[in-house]
Amino acid sequence: MATCAADLFPFEPDLSKAQTPPAPFYLDGALFEAEKDRVFGRTWQWVGHASDVAKPGDFLASEIAGEPLVLVRDAGGGLRAFSNVCRHRGSLVACGKGNRRSLQCPYHGWTYGLDGALLAAPEFDGVRDFDKASVRLPSFRAQDWGPFAFANLSAEGPALPEVLAGFPSEIARLRCDVSRLRFHSRKDYPVRCNWKVYVDNFLEGYHVPTAHPSLLRELDMDRYRVDTFRYHSSHFAPLKPGKGGESRRYGDPDASAGALYYWVFPNWMLNVYPDNLSLNVVLPLGPEECLVVFEWYFFEGTQDLERTAEKTIAFSDGIQREDMEICERVQRGLRSSRYTRGRYSVRRENGVHHFHGLVHEFLASEARDRATR
Ligand code: FES
Ligand SMILES: [Fe+2]
Repeated sequence: MATCAADLFPFEPDLSKAQTPPAPFYLDGALFEAEKDRVFGRTWQWVGHASDVAKPGDFLASEIAGEPLVLVRDAGGGLRAFSNVCRHRGSLVACGKGNRRSLQCPYHGWTYGLDGALLAAPEFDGVRDFDKASVRLPSFRAQDWGPFAFANLSAEGPALPEVLAGFPSEIARLRCDVSRLRFHSRKDYPVRCNWKVYVDNFLEGYHVPTAHPSLLRELDMDRYRVDTFRYHSSHFAPLKPGKGGESRRYGDPDASAGALYYWVFPNWMLNVYPDNLSLNVVLPLGPEECLVVFEWYFFEGTQDLERTAEKTIAFSDGIQREDMEICERVQRGLRSSRYTRGRYSVRRENGVHHFHGLVHEFLASEARDRATR
């Protein structure tokens, strides 16, 4: 069984010659496990709200593809992330969120400082070759940006600003000050498809004319464009001239000029409007199962907030249901004995091809590591 994409298919960088990945790319359990390590274990992942870890002592339990972690705001104001697994017999240490001077494991009471160091291990006298001072929760990289908190299980690889590249400044030019955004609401959508099927679908507007008739009425598909960068892509999806419906939904008369959409490798997306922003995160649950999280953020002091939010969320929910149905159809088709792989539209699927190239690159690093071992 293939455990890395490099074994599964050679990635063709020339979009006009490339074939889409073969069906096992979206089905194979061993490949899914490899992705948890090589893709989700080595990229910046959204792990929660920065507001939950704003003050010293705040903690928030989270996870990345099943790997438990706890975010902590330490005494000096730094954001830290640690493994949330007790060094004693493996219980999860922190649960939920709160504010504490230290983190105590609920099983036998081992206590850790906000720097991850073991402070107390009750009734552990007489244990040989046990150096309490050297015991600590393994740490991970953590950083917040605007209302979001991110962590990276790997100490290697680019810092978060390098991954986000120029897009925070583009968002700022849209007068969207991320530091003033406040979380409004969240919706979780379980989808019976591989997480990459969902991401593929997000990365192209090719399906809009057939799959989203309501969106087609609003969007100027001739000008729809996807631009790819090192670790992200941006989507230019302008409204048809003179269209007011969509902009009313987003509560801003200039929305047609100012909407920005970003996807960041491997699994999260931002939809940015002058007066609000939404986050979509695709969480891998199994080879043929994922959870899509939608969150909406608005500025403090937004006029008529509830009405604007209700319209924004209802519109998005309708499109999401159409997308989920498509993705689940794709997943069922991928299991067919009569399908292996397809081709990309050069005009419309460059973003999908770019994503597949990145997955291939990250998984191929396993083959490189094996070769150098
Ligand atoms: S497992 Fe945490 S104290 Fe025993
Ligand atoms: Fe869609």
